[in-house]
Amino acid sequence: MATIEEAADYIRSRIPREPRVGLILGSGLGVLGDDISGAVAIPYAEIPGFPLSTVEGHAGRLVVGTLGEGPRAKTVVIMQGRFHYYEGYPMEEVVFPVRVMKRLGVETLVVTNAAGGVEKSFSPGELMLITDHIKFFTDSPLRGPNDDSFGPRFNDMSTAYTPRLQKLAREVARDQGITLREGVYAFMAGPSFETPAEITMLRTLGASAVGMSTVPEVITAAHAGLEVLGISAISNMAAGILDQPLNHEEVMETGLRVRDRFIALIQSLVEAL
Ligand code: HPA
Repeated sequence: MATIEEAADYIRSRIPREPRVGLILGSGLGVLGDDISGAVAIPYAEIPGFPLSTVEGHAGRLVVGTLGEGPRAKTVVIMQGRFHYYEGYPMEEVVFPVRVMKRLGVETLVVTNAAGGVEKSFSPGELMLITDHIKFFTDSPLRGPNDDSFGPRFNDMSTAYTPRLQKLAREVARDQGITLREGVYAFMAGPSFETPAEITMLRTLGASAVGMSTVPEVITAAHAGLEVLGISAISNMAAGILDQPLNHEEVMETGLRVRDRFIALIQSLVEAL
């Protein structure tokens, strides 16, 4: 496998300016990358060492360009399509792009996802600020020899979701009149949706939402000293809450319904960084 440095060097050779902000966009939100100005789009297949995206609805390319206008504009790198553990990638590949972003000079990572609502007062279509996460069962992306050039062997996770950015997100959402719920995101490996018993367990343990992404990337980002902001779009109520089966179509449909509001929030957030 090509190294992180090779991937970063290749990307650097194709872009006019180095990004300071990285965005990893979940189901249906990749379109944000379609309307940023002066963008350079690089298909993952062209980048040395990059895994290839397999999920429908994910374009599988990196977009570098300017988000926002005037003095608040930022050069961003957007991942249109992410790598999920359930697709079969080793954790090392799932988080490869995060380390490439770090090498490109990214300081702030914004991660979004579609998630199941574990907290019963949530409704599909609501947005949730991720204040913390729970991960168990799966390997850490940091398992194995530590790369000291990114961070320490035993890295602190007590402020992985940067408090300053959480505060900013609350302010921006309030200014825009967008309701922003908050809570703990639980990572489950998938690809099956959870059982009702697993959802009861997660709620008992303090989770408000559940999903199959984001956490590996955030662990890697925190290790490398990046500031992180995470937002979930609640796409469905988690298993056992409503008397109805779960399906991927519902997740995608809700994603479409919240898309404009979600993108407006992310765009204002990036401008406010
Ligand atoms: N469970 C796990 N992942 C998900 C869900 C869910 O209910 N909804 C969207 N992603």
